[in-house]
Amino acid sequence: MEKLLVTGGAGFIGSNFIHYMLEVHRSYTIVNLDKLTYAGNLENLEDIQDSPRYHFVKGDIADLLLVESLVNEYKIDAIINFAAESHVDRSIMGSAEFIRTNIVGTHALLEVAKNLSVERFLQVSTDEVYGSAPFPKKFSEESLLHPSSPYAASKAAADMLALSYHHTFGTPVIITRCSNNYGPYQFPEKLIPLMISNAIKGRPLPIYGDGLQIRDWIHTRDHCAALDLVLHKGELGKVYNISAEEERKNIDVVKLILRKLDKPEDLVTFVKDRPGHDRRYAVDSQRIRRELGWKPTISFEEGLESTIEWYLSHQSWWEKIQSGEYREYYRKMYEER
Ligand code: NAD
Ligand code: TYD
Repeated sequence: MEKLLVTGGAGFIGSNFIHYMLEVHRSYTIVNLDKLTYAGNLENLEDIQDSPRYHFVKGDIADLLLVESLVNEYKIDAIINFAAESHVDRSIMGSAEFIRTNIVGTHALLEVAKNLSVERFLQVSTDEVYGSAPFPKKFSEESLLHPSSPYAASKAAADMLALSYHHTFGTPVIITRCSNNYGPYQFPEKLIPLMISNAIKGRPLPIYGDGLQIRDWIHTRDHCAALDLVLHKGELGKVYNISAEEERKNIDVVKLILRKLDKPEDLVTFVKDRPGHDRRYAVDSQRIRRELGWKPTISFEEGLESTIEWYLSHQSWWEKIQSGEYREYYRKMYEER
């Protein structure tokens, strides 16, 4: 399994995964199919753009003929699907693109995987498909899906489709459901990079509601290592939860960022809550730990520190993003609340 088709590789986790895989597997070739939406950024991959082991193709995962031609041309062994609309707030403002990419797009990829007999199809999913977990409950892979946002519902639908392809056609599907990621190249509309960049600029840090919602944070490098393991050793037709067991309240994460940057706490601004906001995400990740021997290697404190360092030393990367379309989006969102 040396030729991989990575979709959504110009986004946050996809670009980290491509870097990780090219570094760890010296004989692998990666084709990156990405539509370059607002979240896709080729600067994330600038350092490898001339590598003979890396090929970029601009295109849509819903374009079945394109995907088919790529799998044939590059003799693809495995598809790893990161491509998605991924931001809950955007799915609340309008969910059509979420349905199109996350469901219709995944369906097109599954069709190609079925028709051209690829060896593996890894669907990168999320713990959000289980919905909110009342403390101290943690969801296992067998728990019912109870997605709250249009984003989570579209990911849950894609999971169900993928499992149905395995059940009905024997398509070699594996699904991972990971908790909230943070790390380099994360688009600064998600909690951690937004708060770091706002704190650096001395701008207000908008906390939704009471800030007591809990997320379980994992450094994206640990997520990539887990995906590598599942891709090679995971059992077909199975789901693997991934979590580093680093649950934190949002307000505590934000205050820690301010402390690490030596900025005043009065930058914290409580704003109107997100509609349908899930209180807590928590999954049990014993299966991947016990069966595949995975464990996280980066503690939250350590990972947050290196991530803050990364945003400090890559200011032009996020400043460019935070102009134009992004500003317009935020103006609209806050106007509507
Ligand atoms: P992201 O928004 O940073 O990147 C998504 C990428 O997909 C972008 O490069 C975008 O251009 C591309 N894309 C969007 N629509 C496309 C289409 N129709 N065809 C081709 N490319 C398209 O997302 P991310 O945070 O890197 O998340 C990647 C995947 O991991 C998603 O499937 C998401 O559901 C899942 N996930 C994310 C997290 C997290 O905390 N960020 C946690 C668990 C799972
Ligand atoms: P986010 O990064 O959007 O991830 P998700 O909603 O997929 O978990 O948000 C993480 C948490 O932070 C979530 O509880 C919403 C909250 N949040 C804020 O309080 N303020 C913000 O500006 C953002 C973007 C998120």
